[in-house]
Amino acid sequence: MGEARAARRFYIETYGCQMNAYDSQVIEGVLEAAGLEAVARPEDSDLIIINTCSVRDQAEQRVLGRISQLDGLRRGRRERLLLGVVGCMAQRLGPALFGGGRGRSRVDFVVGPLQYKRLPRILAQVEASPRPDAANYFTDFDDLVTYQAKPKSAPPGGTHFVAVMHGCDKFCAYCIVPYTRGRERSKDWREIVEEVELLAARGAFEVTLLGQTISSYAFAGVDFAGLLAKLHAVEGIQSIRFLTSYPTDMTPALFAAISALPKVGTGIHLPFQSGSNAILSAMNRRYRIEEYEAILAEGRREIPDLLYSTDIIVGYPGETEADFQATLDVVERQGFSAAFMFKYSPREGTLASRRGGAELPAAVKEERLARLSAAQDRQTQAVLAAQLGRELEILLDEPSKKDETRLRGRTRNNLRVIVEARPDLRIGMKIRVRPTAIAGTSLLADLADAAPGG
Ligand code: SAH
Ligand code: SF4
Ligand code: F3S
Repeated sequence: MGEARAARRFYIETYGCQMNAYDSQVIEGVLEAAGLEAVARPEDSDLIIINTCSVRDQAEQRVLGRISQLDGLRRGRRERLLLGVVGCMAQRLGPALFGGGRGRSRVDFVVGPLQYKRLPRILAQVEASPRPDAANYFTDFDDLVTYQAKPKSAPPGGTHFVAVMHGCDKFCAYCIVPYTRGRERSKDWREIVEEVELLAARGAFEVTLLGQTISSYAFAGVDFAGLLAKLHAVEGIQSIRFLTSYPTDMTPALFAAISALPKVGTGIHLPFQSGSNAILSAMNRRYRIEEYEAILAEGRREIPDLLYSTDIIVGYPGETEADFQATLDVVERQGFSAAFMFKYSPREGTLASRRGGAELPAAVKEERLARLSAAQDRQTQAVLAAQLGRELEILLDEPSKKDETRLRGRTRNNLRVIVEARPDLRIGMKIRVRPTAIAGTSLLADLADAAPGG
């Protein structure tokens, strides 16, 4: 093992959103095709790749700490262990990441999300260079690419992410994503269909389609509804979910398409960020809260079992108690099944940070976040309680992580349901169940009939 010069065993650690999880698979595919082998522990590797997120400062701080820790692995090691940073932090910080971990930690290369196809060539170049230096960063943006995940050697599980578009053109004032991922571009629908067919052939029964503003998908005359219809026809795929939609892209036609395609999930993630029109406008979100709520209502008319989840930011510069109250009101009114709630984190280079509005005190943000999550918890519990005693269909998607006598599944509208394992139940099966109790944010359920359904 010691005599091989080139890195052969790589380890990837992934932070951030689902897009990063997908990208790590793309990286694995690209490296495996180049003859490298994935390993599960950094100790066993000669190449460590950290796929990073820049969306909030906390996410970046965590990774900087981790870089130092992994750098420590190199102490006392005789063969070369390469350490590289990829993903959104790589794009945002570029050469600043060299020697940029805490203390004296250092990274050997920095590769942005638009350069993954070139990784084998990049690695050869890095291996040939004696020391890490600013020449080893690859963050070019000029030839915006899309990439397709290559099949990996490992057999896939039942449920998979599939990116259908990259980048974002919305430029919400607080958000770093348009700067780290570049302009919005949709993948060729034929490549997406091919990818999903390949996953299905390897046993996948569910795909979650990914894009920053996925409902604006468009390629050669095929819009998002058209893409859903094409994927609906792929044999073996039983469930198609997608995120994230920008509110104003959720058109009546798209709701109608979802309603007509039974494999498409009816749990729709639709971030609203703030309930105050003044704050929405400052955020450069392109709707008023009345429009947002009208879109929710439109969807509910079209799709009876529809459940919405959302993202919310509290403590945006200028947010008054009344603005925050308006956000709370939306949460109370709309009954989201789930919400991801964040304290505003200023990101250098975004419109909001250039504008330089006064930051709210940390204590105010903290207190608002606590009130908001308490309000949302009550809503989640109410949504779950409303299911008790009803008959629901679920797709069993994985064994319970904690308890092997249980199986986990999800309803079409994306509620998590747990049932007792039985010899006649298999992952990938659709069954009818009756929820009997709530456990955290999941439902516990019995089978509705003695025998499992089709
Ligand atoms: N493309 C998706 C997700 C973007 S990032 C969308 O448009 O909805 C996921 C969430 O992180 C956002 O919805 C927002 O709620 C939050 N977020 C983004 N930038 C942030 C910042 N600077 N501070 C706090 N939260 C932020
Ligand atoms: Fe960021 Fe807004 Fe784009 Fe979402 S839509 S990725 S929040 S800029
Ligand atoms: Fe983070 Fe980049 Fe995703 S900033 S949220 S990893 S697109």
